[in-house]
Amino acid sequence: MRKPIIAGNWKMNKLVAEGARFVVDIRESVPSDEEVETVICAPFVHIPFISEAAREFHIKIGAQNMHYEESGAFTGEVSPKMLEDLLVDYVIIGHSERRQYFNETDESVNKKTKAAFEHDLLPIVCVGESLEQREADQTMTFVESQVRQALDGLTNEQAKQVVLAYEPIWAIGTGKTATSEQANEVCAHIRNVVKDQFGEEVAEAVRIQYGGSVKPENIEELLSMTDIDGALVGGASMKEDSFMKLVEAGK
Ligand code: G3P
Repeated sequence: MRKPIIAGNWKMNKLVAEGARFVVDIRESVPSDEEVETVICAPFVHIPFISEAAREFHIKIGAQNMHYEESGAFTGEVSPKMLEDLLVDYVIIGHSERRQYFNETDESVNKKTKAAFEHDLLPIVCVGESLEQREADQTMTFVESQVRQALDGLTNEQAKQVVLAYEPIWAIGTGKTATSEQANEVCAHIRNVVKDQFGEEVAEAVRIQYGGSVKPENIEELLSMTDIDGALVGGASMKEDSFMKLVEAGK
């Protein structure tokens, strides 16, 4: 039985005081992480504050990106060691916005995924096709190649702990959700790819989220699908009440 994981991705939103207030407002209502894992992936500047506010509650903290090097002359970057130092739990890697606007490649995604494990961080690795690729019937081959490259070289023990997030680019922030069948079809394919790469035990353990216009109205149906184990949510994670509805649906 895979534990559901609901992660909010605030992207580049909220001022520091707003982020901390959000955590203070929801922290007592967040269910035990034995039932559902609740993660907030916030901009770096929020992390010390929200981690303090979340301490001793069932909220895990995630970053939205990181470099793969531990330290060095990389102006403007944040290292996995720095995130480890702040007791960050998760880090989103290879979000389509990073791939699209900041030259994230399958190679850097792979390096970051490995670096996460070296620093006690769990990666949420994002994959997903563009509208053109979907229309050209390339979804499965494209997503498969993203998954294979991202996970290449991991041990079975590491691969088991990866969270994969299937986010079709055409569904992100557009209000256009993939149907639960479309989403599940790709998530099932991802699980098969993991099976081919690491074997059945890993494939059964690995958690796969869907992301793309997830909201309280559609989350239950998405989570009822066989291969969808959670959601990575942008817009609907930004307000306390809708985020809590998503978390409740994960129970
Ligand atoms: O990472 C979450 C994301 O890209 C989906 O965004 O706003 O469509 O829920 P949204």
